[in-house]
Amino acid sequence: MSLSASHPSIAVLCSGGGSNLQALMERIDRGDLEAKIAWVASNNGDSPALERARRAGIPAHHVSVRTEGGPEGVERRLLELVTAHDVQVLVLAGYMKVLPAAVIRALPGRVVNIHPALLPAFGGKGMYGVHVHEAVLESGAQWTGVTIHLVTENYDEGPVLRQRVAAVMPGDTPASLGSRVLALEHDTLWREVRSLLERT
Ligand code: GRF
Repeated sequence: MSLSASHPSIAVLCSGGGSNLQALMERIDRGDLEAKIAWVASNNGDSPALERARRAGIPAHHVSVRTEGGPEGVERRLLELVTAHDVQVLVLAGYMKVLPAAVIRALPGRVVNIHPALLPAFGGKGMYGVHVHEAVLESGAQWTGVTIHLVTENYDEGPVLRQRVAAVMPGDTPASLGSRVLALEHDTLWREVRSLLERT
């Protein structure tokens, strides 16, 4: 693993499977992304993302209203983690909670989220997971894709940094479309994190 001390630190927040986290770890291992993952945190103590991180020797934290005693505790803990590790870029990769505003303000222009559609289409309330791909298929759209955007205090509305397009194929199901989009996510997130680190 390339864990050079001179590499900038990133941190990743996840709620679920963590396949995007895994893709970032692989790009770091291959030397495509010169960064180190300082920590991973999840609101969900059973998130496979935490397990993936631990297996790779990355500190993995369960940070939730339950573990921290309320929303203020979550904010305090995340701020501590960001500042203690000099995190340059915070990546939301399947994080299903709203990030406390104070954390967003602590890293201006350096918190990114990945969304499995071409925002502003198929974003906003209820548009997560398989629901996104169901809505795309129901709309009859021929294209969907991946969006990486800055996280601002108005969630899915932060400026778009990068988008890539995926075709909707005849006969697609939400699952088949979702796996095509997910593969594209894996090939896109690390590129934007790299660009962002180069710009900061
Ligand atoms: C991805 O589709 C991502 O775009 C969305 O949540 C999903 C997370 O997948 N925000 P994983 O946990 O990285 O496998």
